[in-house]
Amino acid sequence: MSQKKIFLVFIAISTVSLLLHHGGHLSWTMEAFHLGCPALRSHPAAGLKPKHTNVVFLKTHKTASTTMQNLLFRFAEHNNLTVALPVQACSHQFCYPRSFTSHFVHAHTLPPNIVTSHMRFNRGELQRLMPNDTIYITILREPGSMFESLFSYYNQYCQSFKRVPNGSLEVFLDEPWRYYRPDEKDSMYARNTLTFDLGGDKDRPATDVAYARAFVAEVERVFSLVMIAEYFDESLVLLRHLLSWDLDDILYVKLNMRTPSSKRSLTPGLPAKIRAWNSLDARLYDHFNASLWRRLSALGPACVAREVRLLQRAQERLMRSCFGGRMPLLRSAAQIKNKDLRPWQPSGKVDIVGYDLPTNLSRGFSAQAQELCLKLIMPEVQYTRVLLRSQSLRYRRSYQLRPPQQQPQPVRTALPRHPPVQRSQAPPPAAPGPASGTGSTSTSKPAAGTQGRTTKSEPQSSQT
Ligand SMILES: *[C@@H]1O[C@H](CO)[C@@H](O)[C@H](O)[C@H]1NC(C)=O
Ligand SMILES: *[C@@H]1O[C@H](CO)[C@@H](O)[C@H](O)[C@H]1NC(C)=O
Ligand SMILES: *[C@@H]1O[C@H](CO)[C@@H](O)[C@H](O)[C@H]1NC(C)=O
Ligand SMILES: *[C@@H]1O[C@H](CO)[C@@H](O)[C@H](O)[C@H]1NC(C)=O
Ligand SMILES: *[C@@H]1O[C@H](CO)[C@@H](O)[C@H](O)[C@H]1NC(C)=O
Repeated sequence: MSQKKIFLVFIAISTVSLLLHHGGHLSWTMEAFHLGCPALRSHPAAGLKPKHTNVVFLKTHKTASTTMQNLLFRFAEHNNLTVALPVQACSHQFCYPRSFTSHFVHAHTLPPNIVTSHMRFNRGELQRLMPNDTIYITILREPGSMFESLFSYYNQYCQSFKRVPNGSLEVFLDEPWRYYRPDEKDSMYARNTLTFDLGGDKDRPATDVAYARAFVAEVERVFSLVMIAEYFDESLVLLRHLLSWDLDDILYVKLNMRTPSSKRSLTPGLPAKIRAWNSLDARLYDHFNASLWRRLSALGPACVAREVRLLQRAQERLMRSCFGGRMPLLRSAAQIKNKDLRPWQPSGKVDIVGYDLPTNLSRGFSAQAQELCLKLIMPEVQYTRVLLRSQSLRYRRSYQLRPPQQQPQPVRTALPRHPPVQRSQAPPPAAPGPASGTGSTSTSKPAAGTQGRTTKSEPQSSQT
């Protein structure tokens, strides 16, 4: 080999190893640059537009929203942001199905950058809670498959479904009014669930076209992006552009899925019946699916396709490094050894699968890398608990560092404050016990002192 050839080989090897070392980021930037995608050329190139960090993601039901929530939790942790989390009395949701109020937010998670736990949307309350540059996002799913999923997931939970003979979706849809009671507990899972989650009136008759039209317009006005579950990766591309995030910020593993055997395909005629029964949701879906595709086409189909491919490739790389080449094994909850990874099961009839880590994960991994891999597949309830613990700890630390006469202000990294949030809780008492700084006692039981206080503040009932 001539010296020149050896030199070229050397250069090639160096380039490849450089790309590998800098992970997805560099190759992503370079490949995108190569393409000349207009919106990409200006983006992740260094030092440009800062990432947007104030985000409300309205987590709708059975729409891949748990996967989105996990992504936002990880983004928040990575960037030291504050995620609003529910008070103990609300469980891991903001007292759904009650309309959201700021009283549902744990005092140690104020003021927030990110809101992503289940709630019934209440624009006014969120506006008072969040910075004024907050971007609102949500996700919808095609009504047919969504309703099948709701019916199966909540069949032992929601009375409207429970009273259907043989648990038959067909039987329900033949005469929904026979089984459905609009004012009964959990009735929101049985009709126009998306509309309800978005704060709308799920029981408006299909004939009230003016209401449906006005409701769609309102959602359009408030939400900067309505993602579509069927086009999840494409939606993430739009999200990335909207928030000026990087590829690394939108990597995910699908969470909270059913086993294939709990799913069923719809018999002919059923999708139309489902749409008629959930006419408000159907209208929302059609409208926002159309606008998603308009935006994708404005971005350029070739660009979008390329970004989706890059995303999927980066995802495969991540899987390889986390779980040794394959996706982590999908397992039913009972088989999952690590209880931090067991997903919540709605009933004995539906099997929600989760992931288990390979037992040899720890070999040759930094603690940080292990943590990321674990968080990628951590179910909602456990992750919420972990975040509350770490944010409470941070809150207490920031309090301990202040002179006692000052009002405590939670640590925050982002933008200027909006009008004061109405707080339901008094400032925390002077931190108990532990030698300040070490935090050893508060690490082991960080939330204990707060629970009594937060549960006492009975959230007000809210108007809709
Ligand atoms: C987050 O906080 C930690 C510790 O306080 C710090 O080391 C890290 O650099 C911060 N990260 C960002 C992105 O601000
Ligand atoms: C329920 O299932 C049984 C046995 O499969 C069948 O005989 C009955 O007709 C079904 N009932 C309804 C309402 O479909
Ligand atoms: C969403 O809209 C696109 C573009 O109009 C269309 O091709 C697609 O079939 C729609 N998807 C669903 C599930 O309706
Ligand atoms: C982990 O274990 C699996 C099977 O037990 C094996 O195939 C894989 O190579 C191991 N991975 C590492 C990184 O040791
Ligand atoms: C947001 O709030 C800041 C300060 O609280 C204010 O200066 C700014 O004008 C507000 N922006 C908008 C768009 O209302």
